[in-house]
Amino acid sequence: MKRPFVFINMAMTLDGKTSTVERRPTDWTSPADKRHLIELRATADAVMVGARTAETDRTSLSIPDERLQRPRIRRGQPPHPLRVIVSGNGSFRENIRAFERQVSPILIFTSRRAPRAKLDRLARLPDVHVYVIGKRDVDVPLMLDILARDWKVKRLLCEGGASLNWSLFAARAVDEAFVTLCPRVFGGATAPTLVDGAGFARGRIVNAKLMRCERKGQELFLRYRILSQD
Ligand SMILES: NC(=O)c1ccc[n+]([C@@H]2O[C@H](COP(=O)([O-])OP(=O)(O)OC[C@H]3O[C@@H](n4cnc5c(N)ncnc54)[C@H](OP(=O)(O)O)[C@@H]3O)[C@@H](O)[C@H]2O)c1
Repeated sequence: MKRPFVFINMAMTLDGKTSTVERRPTDWTSPADKRHLIELRATADAVMVGARTAETDRTSLSIPDERLQRPRIRRGQPPHPLRVIVSGNGSFRENIRAFERQVSPILIFTSRRAPRAKLDRLARLPDVHVYVIGKRDVDVPLMLDILARDWKVKRLLCEGGASLNWSLFAARAVDEAFVTLCPRVFGGATAPTLVDGAGFARGRIVNAKLMRCERKGQELFLRYRILSQD
């Protein structure tokens, strides 16, 4: 199977959390971090989020800054990346912000758990493409293969959350991780981290190499290469 180069970007508190226990979006990172996210988006052919992030973070997954769109157009890319939402049961709300801005196709990858009526409704939305791949969970290698082959995605940015990140790491399908370390403590045993899910047993843990560490104000911008395993 083919797959794109996959990189994730997340902001994390110094106690390793990526949201509070309430899992509601709060504005807790700097303008530099927000700019960094958009700049990374501008390098991607597709941007992907899990269903909970699509709902809670009110993200349009687009590139609001025309100056970042221009180099894409010069490279022969569309101004905005493809937008990808992953949902096992298709339960996410339909008033998410990504649907409000029709700037690029939206691909929804879901499983056979999703109710038919919901899939039909989603497929009727303009430029929304629904793939049902997997019995309970989305088959991640197949999803990446479809993105690479059918949509010519070479660079895929995953913007979280922790559950989707787990699916990618568990499939050994992450190449790089960008992490903004923020000087805050959220606490909470159930607050999301960078990667949740079932967790790896000791023999399966993922190793990474620090490629960059840049301080901007009170935040550290870290870039890791994920080392190949298996
Ligand atoms: N700090 C940051 O940079 C950052 C970034 C992103 C998000 N967040 C925060 O993280 C929280 C959301 O994270 P989260 O871990 O709860 O949710 P998430 O990863 O955004 O979404 C989880 C959902 O994605 C779907 N999913 C993921 N992998 C799947 C697979 N292999 N097959 C089928 N479905 C799959 C499932 O949807 P269904 O339930 O529909 O089946 C699952 O419940 C929010 O509070 C958000 O604000 C923080």
